[in-house]
Amino acid sequence: MMRHLVVPNREVEAVLGHVRAREWGSLNHRVFSSDDGLSRLIPLDPGAPLELPAALDFPIEIHEGIPDEKTETDWLALLAAEVDEETISEKGESWPSNHEFIGDMMIVRIDENVVEFTDSIARAKLGAHPHIRLLLADDGVEGEFRIRQLRPIGARLADRILAGPSLEFAPPDLLSTEVAVKESGRVIRCDPTRAYFSTKLQTERLETLALAKVLREELGQPLRVADPFCGVGPALATLLGESDLVSDLLAADLNPDAVELLMSNLSKWDRRPYPEGAPDLQRVHDNRLVGMADALSLADDPTISGQWNLVLANLPHRTIEFLPALIPLLDRNYPSMIRGRALVEEDAIEEANQAIRSALPSTMKDKPQPSLQIKRDYSASLRLCSFEAWIDSE
Ligand SMILES: C[S@@+](CC[C@H](N)C(=O)[O-])C[C@H]1O[C@@H](n2cnc3c(N)ncnc32)[C@H](O)[C@@H]1O
Repeated sequence: MMRHLVVPNREVEAVLGHVRAREWGSLNHRVFSSDDGLSRLIPLDPGAPLELPAALDFPIEIHEGIPDEKTETDWLALLAAEVDEETISEKGESWPSNHEFIGDMMIVRIDENVVEFTDSIARAKLGAHPHIRLLLADDGVEGEFRIRQLRPIGARLADRILAGPSLEFAPPDLLSTEVAVKESGRVIRCDPTRAYFSTKLQTERLETLALAKVLREELGQPLRVADPFCGVGPALATLLGESDLVSDLLAADLNPDAVELLMSNLSKWDRRPYPEGAPDLQRVHDNRLVGMADALSLADDPTISGQWNLVLANLPHRTIEFLPALIPLLDRNYPSMIRGRALVEEDAIEEANQAIRSALPSTMKDKPQPSLQIKRDYSASLRLCSFEAWIDSE
């Protein structure tokens, strides 16, 4: 899902000129027509700022991006130079058509059906995406730190493409996975092999921003926000980008590598110094409590419990189980919100909704009951879902 500008047909050329001049258009997706045929939807790069200038003041729609067929045909044409047509059509859907860009890296999932063609896939993908430096195979997410298992399968060294045995000659810098990603006008430093990060959550972060603004409206004041599973801090990048939205912040993670990157990110987003390395949770500034901590024991500290208006819970395989440990973080003197992600079997979503509702204190009568919304498939039966719960004041 990505942001698209909805532009009346007669203004499309002028708007495209503006978007391209600023490099805010998605390179890999194409413009398409609205259902009524009166407008065109222009796909925006995730790095484009949230606030767009007056020349681009058009409605925004969140929509599945339509891949640019040209890059798709280019990569298959390059593959056809190495693999015979019969094999290409026989393996059909097994060829990697989806991919994720993180900075100048591209991540693809290699189906076991086409594993033997990994080197050819790497050469073809890098050939079709000239801005990509490093191609990584995605072997899933592992452990409590949710670190992605990524394997380099191709790299670009000047005008040469390295794949297979020639990758051994790649200088270490070329294989570095620490990158700066631009999202919603902010730069996020991350290394998906050391700390969890996914560009696919941008829409989720924009939805959280919209919900946080509604909560601020309810409270009539900026929010005290806790992100106890914050990783390198991408959700905070979006929230801190909105002026007068966040007053106090708690940002914690158990992974020292994530905290190290978080500190470096916060020093840029917050424009003030943060410690280097990965210190234990500490008050870095009067209104910033940041560092390594176990989310499950935060509420044991009386100076931390009962202090927060918005609590983010992004540890999808355990969110529901952890809710009882997170709820005491909320400041129940005011309406508050828990915004979470959960991984649930599709046929157990109603059961999970009940589990969430029974773990929570009373919710606000004039707001919808917390209910899991499917965001995408995680496996054949598991779904990644989101929910928000509006908690009533006591
Ligand atoms: C799915 S990632 C989400 C990271 C970040 N919120 C984001 O959206 O990119 C979950 C994070 O929770 C952290 N984590 C796992 N168990 C934890 C715990 N008990 N306390 C604090 N952090 C934990 C992991 O290290 C990981 O960074």
